[in-house]
Amino acid sequence: PWANYYFAVDQTWDQGAAESNHEGFTKTDASMGASQNVGFVNLENVKGSSITFTVNAEKAGNYMTHIRYANGSTVDRKGFVYVNGNTSTYWQQSFPGTADWDTWNEMGIVLPLKAGKNTIKLESAVDEGCPNLDYITI
Ligand code: GCU
Repeated sequence: PWANYYFAVDQTWDQGAAESNHEGFTKTDASMGASQNVGFVNLENVKGSSITFTVNAEKAGNYMTHIRYANGSTVDRKGFVYVNGNTSTYWQQSFPGTADWDTWNEMGIVLPLKAGKNTIKLESAVDEGCPNLDYITI
């Protein structure tokens, strides 16, 4: 099947904001999705700020997901990734600098999903917070 795109601005987050003051994000037009939101999500520069993506998987299995992000700083941003609220198993994802806040890159991470609805939570693991977030694909 084709990849599904889940825009960060259509998700729920804790300590952050939807913004559009940098270029290169994907959701530029509300017609691309059900909500009116455009832009990217800027999580606060603090440990523990987070975004939770709700995604759909056709069947249970390991999926290569891609997170599109921008990190205009020179320091790696780092996050913990939790699937379906399970905090005993988690992944650690590093997001290296992308030169500036208008330059976006994707990081791939393999995650185990169940059939149907899943949540993927990305939580800032460092004081700098996570990078700016555009979408996750499944
Ligand atoms: C700048 C930038 C933001 C970014 C922030 C950060 O303020 O404009 O988009 O989120 O740096 O350091 O995370």
